[in-house]
Amino acid sequence: MQETIQHILEQKFRNAFARTGIGPNIPVVLQESGRPEFGDYQINGAMAAAKQLKQNPRELAQKIIENVELTNVIEKLELAGPGFINIYLADEFLASRLGNKVLDVSLAQTETIVVDYSAPNLAKEMHVGHLRSTVIGDCLVRVYEYMGNKVIRRNHVGDWGTQFGMLTAYLLELNQNKESLQMELGDLEEFYRKAKAKFDADENFANKAREYVVRLQSGDAEILALWQQFVEVSLDHCQEVCDRLGTKLTREDAVGESRYNDLLAPMVNKLMEEGIAVDSNGAKCIFFTEDELGSKDETPFIIQKSDGGYLYATTDIAAVYDRVNNLHATRLVYVIDSRQSLHLKQLFVVAHKSHIANSDVKMEHAAFGTMMGEDGKPFKTRTGGTVKLIDLINEAITRATTLVKERNPEWSDDEVASLGHILGVAAMKYADLSKNRTTDYIFSFDKMLAFEGNTAPYLLYAYTRVNSIFLKAQSTIDAYLNKDIMITNGDEHKLALHIARFADRLIQVAKENYPHYLCSYIYELAVLFMKFYESSPILKEADLALRDSRLALAANTAKTLEVALSLLGIPVVAKM
Ligand code: ARG
Repeated sequence: MQETIQHILEQKFRNAFARTGIGPNIPVVLQESGRPEFGDYQINGAMAAAKQLKQNPRELAQKIIENVELTNVIEKLELAGPGFINIYLADEFLASRLGNKVLDVSLAQTETIVVDYSAPNLAKEMHVGHLRSTVIGDCLVRVYEYMGNKVIRRNHVGDWGTQFGMLTAYLLELNQNKESLQMELGDLEEFYRKAKAKFDADENFANKAREYVVRLQSGDAEILALWQQFVEVSLDHCQEVCDRLGTKLTREDAVGESRYNDLLAPMVNKLMEEGIAVDSNGAKCIFFTEDELGSKDETPFIIQKSDGGYLYATTDIAAVYDRVNNLHATRLVYVIDSRQSLHLKQLFVVAHKSHIANSDVKMEHAAFGTMMGEDGKPFKTRTGGTVKLIDLINEAITRATTLVKERNPEWSDDEVASLGHILGVAAMKYADLSKNRTTDYIFSFDKMLAFEGNTAPYLLYAYTRVNSIFLKAQSTIDAYLNKDIMITNGDEHKLALHIARFADRLIQVAKENYPHYLCSYIYELAVLFMKFYESSPILKEADLALRDSRLALAANTAKTLEVALSLLGIPVVAKM
């Protein structure tokens, strides 16, 4: 990939700071300008430097301006306010950065990244609570991959633990042939409900369920076979949901808790031997200092219960071991609800201090908030039940299909259905991804399906607008992508600048695990294009060179929109 604008400017100012006698400990602080009257970028580091060197900040900023070497990059620099430096990039420089190379964001230094996401418990069907992890995780996977990293998806499904004793006991109790069992498991929720009712009402059954847990955990072949059957059906359900959502997850990515079974005892032994875990009333626990956690919390990390049973925490430690030692991961990203923040903080501390993961292995919690209903409370059915994810997706598709039909009464049923599916899923994904993941957000079909504002329909529609220019010109986007561009007005400048920033934005998304940075990038791109489109004639432009240049700018917009949306897991469409 080409050196990014951010990188070029930072380097140039770094050098200028040095020439001005400012040490490397003072950051140049380069920012994208919020407003055009401040140029395209700003350098804000001169003030801090002046303070340290006890100099007048404006005079120091002026010296930096004299010392910076930016021929061919800028149109001008401007000293502003108490010592800001405003940077106006040269039109020719921007134009030279567009075309195919905008989309090349392959890093020189890549990583092996394991992304832990989706991860439902298999005892039940996927519900709305799994939407965020699935959608956010899938976007991060796409972004890391796009940048050339080796990415390994891990769907850490809950397929182990006490519920499975109950479920296998119930499965055996029904004593049916394979086909009718398949029927029985057709509604996992119902199956779980019935098993639980029996467990609560029937002492004998409850005892049997407990016995089965023990037999299951000790590898009893008969119970394992039943368990396997249950897990298979449940995984089929998950796969169906993930496919309907258009995620990259496959059955191979589902590596459940059970798969780490053999590693649990050795992990506990190791931690005990090293004195990291200690005996506490018969249980094996790890305690943390305030320093280690960054806050005071006395909750211990329990890795083995007094009855010998292992826990969620133990499995997660084993999974770190597997990911680092067998998969050779250099970075682990966990896309999990923010309510599990403490668990992950503890996990990361344990993994590092036991050297299960060396300190150069990065571990990150990409935490997310709760999805709320329009009443501002956690999303539930009208009667207060959990909403199955598949039902929610289907409703989005149905609503989108109705919209498509209304807008295009002349379309065939197939066309309507196909776009309805794409639009419904895109709307759901985009509504989620465009919010800062750390906050709760209100799920609203009406808002996400609106054709105005920061929504998937608006963006997909914007793409079709750009696309239609090429249809009208009887040409293609690809034919114009690498044609010469001349920037002749402010709207062209802003659009070109924004496109040229793609790599910098993507680097930021991958670094901070924030998909909403990418969403606002896309939205802004669409808005800037619309402004350009209104102010600058394209096909009607009489100057043919300028017409071609504008077509090239439109082609750059279309391609960037297409790639950026694809990184959210959203395909573009030719017409809407
Ligand atoms: N199955 C868990 C749950 O539903 C989420 C697992 C997340 N991944 C992990 N490695 N802990 O809460």
